[in-house]
Amino acid sequence: MNIIDIITKKKNKEALSKEEIEFVVNSYVDGNIKDYQMSSLLMAITINDMNDDEIHYLTNAMLNSGKKLELSSLGIVVDKHSTGGVGDKTTLMVAPIVASCGVKVAKMSGRGLGHTGGTIDKLESIPNIKLNLTEEEFINEVKNINMAITCQTDNMVIADKKIYALRDVTGTVESIPLIASSIMSKKIASGASKLVLDVKVGSGALIKNIEDARRLSNIMVNLGKQNNIETVCLITNMDIPLGNNIGNSLEIEEAIDILTNKKDNELKSLVIELSSYMVSLGLNISIEEARNMVISKLNDLSAYNKFLEFIKYQNGNIEALPKGTKAYNIKSNMEGYITKIDAYKLGRLSMLIGAGRENKEDIIDYTAGIILNKKINDYVGIGDILFTVYTNKDISNIDFNIIDITNNKIEDPKLIYEVIK
Ligand code: URA
Repeated sequence: MNIIDIITKKKNKEALSKEEIEFVVNSYVDGNIKDYQMSSLLMAITINDMNDDEIHYLTNAMLNSGKKLELSSLGIVVDKHSTGGVGDKTTLMVAPIVASCGVKVAKMSGRGLGHTGGTIDKLESIPNIKLNLTEEEFINEVKNINMAITCQTDNMVIADKKIYALRDVTGTVESIPLIASSIMSKKIASGASKLVLDVKVGSGALIKNIEDARRLSNIMVNLGKQNNIETVCLITNMDIPLGNNIGNSLEIEEAIDILTNKKDNELKSLVIELSSYMVSLGLNISIEEARNMVISKLNDLSAYNKFLEFIKYQNGNIEALPKGTKAYNIKSNMEGYITKIDAYKLGRLSMLIGAGRENKEDIIDYTAGIILNKKINDYVGIGDILFTVYTNKDISNIDFNIIDITNNKIEDPKLIYEVIK
């Protein structure tokens, strides 16, 4: 078998066999297929797609490129994953809410990619927190307090680490077969028995239209079934950023505001829905029963107390959460209703002010970020503050034009488009 024949086959829109896909994944991990050859194949896949069998073979080949976590000693464990968005901090709330309902959550999270943020970066803004747990520490924590969040270990799904890094720099991130196999190989390797996926669609997401989101969801639900993981996908709106705060320590603050019932916004509604689906799967109860339980754990602060317990268990010092000192208010120069907050531009902007990485080596400023003062359909007058930017960078050349203001309101944006199971 040789890589040039395989690239040519995909270039000619032919389906690859199980053996060819295994050969590609194994040889790339071993270093026998070079980055430039893999880039070429990834681009051919991005353009010419893969059928369901090819995606299944690719997922399994990636899964088998590393170690799998054995969580059967924990009983039913529920996991979640988002395809990535701007201001997407749901894990910070969902994990403690679900754990406080008596369901075990063992979550391996990632860092920010491109304009989207990552849970590990957000949690790392809490001084001293330990996020590289050993397998034993991870399992013991879930046994003791029903939840744990850690980075994926280096020896799991090795193929995904290499392939994702390459996709990030070769314009091949937004491919459905590559997204499905990347997410599901990691989730299967993490050992959970039930899974809730938040499939984001819109300008700030990797998937831009509902048909693609539906296809991705169906593929991931089927990959789950093939591996005995009951999987539910919520297709949700990422045309607008989630919540008001974007940037690592600012997102921790917003999560705390929601867990302490100081804030009620669309982020909280999504957190309640994701948590309810996880609790429903974990306890085998109806979604309505699960939702009632989730709301009561938020109201009586059990979920917040679980959050504090988790941070303390992983050695974090939440009292020392850093705050930005240099703030710039961006004001409106017109009056009217806010009809668009471009999630993609906002994600890019937060990267430029230091909250994300433009290059893999960049060091994050955990205090950098943006607080949106207004949301869709809010009225603004001339001089009103649209958002506040926290940064230690020079902002003189930065374009802050991310909000559209018009004379009329628009229809209220939908939060959840569809649920696929
Ligand atoms: N998240 C992942 O883990 N992989 C992708 O390919 C896209 C989002």
